Amino acid sequence: MGNLNESKEIIKQKIEELIDYSTGLKLKNKILSMKYDEEKGVIELVIEVGQNNLNNDNILKRQIAKIVKIDHGFSGVKINFEETKKSDKIAGKNTKFILISGGKGGIGKTFITVNLAYALNKIGKKVGIIDADIYGASVPTMLAMFKDEISVGEFNKINPFKKWNMEIISTEFFSEYEKPIYWQGSSLYTMISNFLYQVAWSKDLDYILVDMPTGTGDVFLSIAKDLKDANVIIVSEEDMLSAHTALKSGVAHKELGQNLLGVVINKKTIDNFAEEYLTEKLGIPALAFIPYEKPKTRSYLYDENDENYKLFIDLATIIQSIL
Ligand SMILES: Nc1ncnc2c1ncn2[C@@H]1O[C@H](COP(=O)(O)OP(=O)(O)OP(=O)(O)O)[C@@H](O)[C@H]1O
Ligand SMILES: [Mg+2]
Repeated sequence: MGNLNESKEIIKQKIEELIDYSTGLKLKNKILSMKYDEEKGVIELVIEVGQNNLNNDNILKRQIAKIVKIDHGFSGVKINFEETKKSDKIAGKNTKFILISGGKGGIGKTFITVNLAYALNKIGKKVGIIDADIYGASVPTMLAMFKDEISVGEFNKINPFKKWNMEIISTEFFSEYEKPIYWQGSSLYTMISNFLYQVAWSKDLDYILVDMPTGTGDVFLSIAKDLKDANVIIVSEEDMLSAHTALKSGVAHKELGQNLLGVVINKKTIDNFAEEYLTEKLGIPALAFIPYEKPKTRSYLYDENDENYKLFIDLATIIQSIL
């Protein structure tokens, strides 16, 4: 068997050259742990695969057993295959998802999404935005983006569109200008799933913000299915109607196992109904209070000339400190 550490190193190198057919990529950096049980003479491995698949796992098992037992003379090998977390497959390992949600229409979900994304970028974070509002896509308009040529990148994935250092995807880029979209059911799910898996997001994105549509319908559920470990910001205005709908979406996210970060009160008035109601009922903090203020320079985005800009920088700083 020769020197144990040397053998382990060579085994590791050989395994890293094998192909995981569920991703089509080599197992480079996919050995999560490698131990040697001296008593039994067995090498124990934990290996990350793109997708657990009996066929793929068996092929790898045979190849690894040959390396460990026949090439290097160990008496046995024990392998656990761990599936890559779904969210890891979308962008990078360290990319965190933040859903901007809140039930009622017109309360400022999209407005908060673009301004928070911009502020996060200003404090040095790399940010992507998914416009999950399939029928009412408004992120591109708020970011003053024009329809660009669609381009295809690595692994045949669509390159996200770019504006001010941010990566953006929206149905707006794929639909005819001024024409509505009528998808339902499976085509709707396919679009959401394409936004997650078929976009060549940069691997070093810190955050992907998801502008959620109003309500807890199909889109809500498809996102919940694929982004179980996402974080959520609940947006509400101070009034009871808005707070009540926001509560329902907060409860829905919670029941799906997602992590509620806190509440953002938008178009702040002197009233504080929603703040008290939501923080108490959902047991989460209020992260920011944004008064109604028209951006001075751009149509929808604050910059250094606006009072609210600082509030978004503060919100971005809080997000950075908790995630
Ligand atoms: N704090 C604010 N100050 C000034 N205008 C705001 C503020 N918040 C939102 N708005 C404006 O209010 C309108 C509605 O906001 P927005 O489209 O973001 O709501 P929404 O919750 O995303 O709605 P929908 O459910 O239709 O997607 C927009 O014109 C937006 O620019
Ligand atoms: Mg919106």
